[in-house]
Amino acid sequence: TRKVGILLSGRGSNMMALVEHARGYDVTLVASDKPDAAGIAWARERGLATFTQSPKGMPKADYEAAIEAALRAAGVEVIALAGYMRLLSDAFVARWRGRIINIHPSLLPKYKGLDTHARAIAAGDAVAGCSVHVVTEELDGGDVLGQAEVPILPGDTADTLAARVLKAEHRLYPIMLAEFVTR
Ligand code: GAR
Repeated sequence: TRKVGILLSGRGSNMMALVEHARGYDVTLVASDKPDAAGIAWARERGLATFTQSPKGMPKADYEAAIEAALRAAGVEVIALAGYMRLLSDAFVARWRGRIINIHPSLLPKYKGLDTHARAIAAGDAVAGCSVHVVTEELDGGDVLGQAEVPILPGDTADTLAARVLKAEHRLYPIMLAEFVTR
């Protein structure tokens, strides 16, 4: 079983799905840039190892070095980003080349970046979804490992669509991570 570290910034529902449906991997660290992230509290209660480091008031390289030291101390081999709302530096990505994956709430290559659901609705799309991809230096630009689609329904708002996509994320991500660690 491969050792996985999860990085998150908030609610952590994708992290919970990865923990609860772990197959072929062990989550040995849940780390965050937000010390009071709800996902960190959940992981702690669950008895998982956690690490938090606010990036405030320090050079980005120092912040990332702290996160990385914690990941290495936990024996992490693969990093799964789960609502981690910060860009990793090129140097960090290079050190972990091919060993970081992310879940993004759109059908990539459509709607990289933020506000994906509002943009899909505004474009008049009939389907939305989520993508699991390898992380490279290009934002939301690495190889797509898998996607799940959901319909966009009449009357959808960004929030109602986000909730539908999120359920698909929770099904897709554990499957993709299990596949990724055994490939
Ligand atoms: C998820 O919808 C995830 O796809 C998205 O943030 C949400 C995090 O929710 N990620 C991004 O937008 C990455 N740029 P969660 O904290 O409950 O998993």
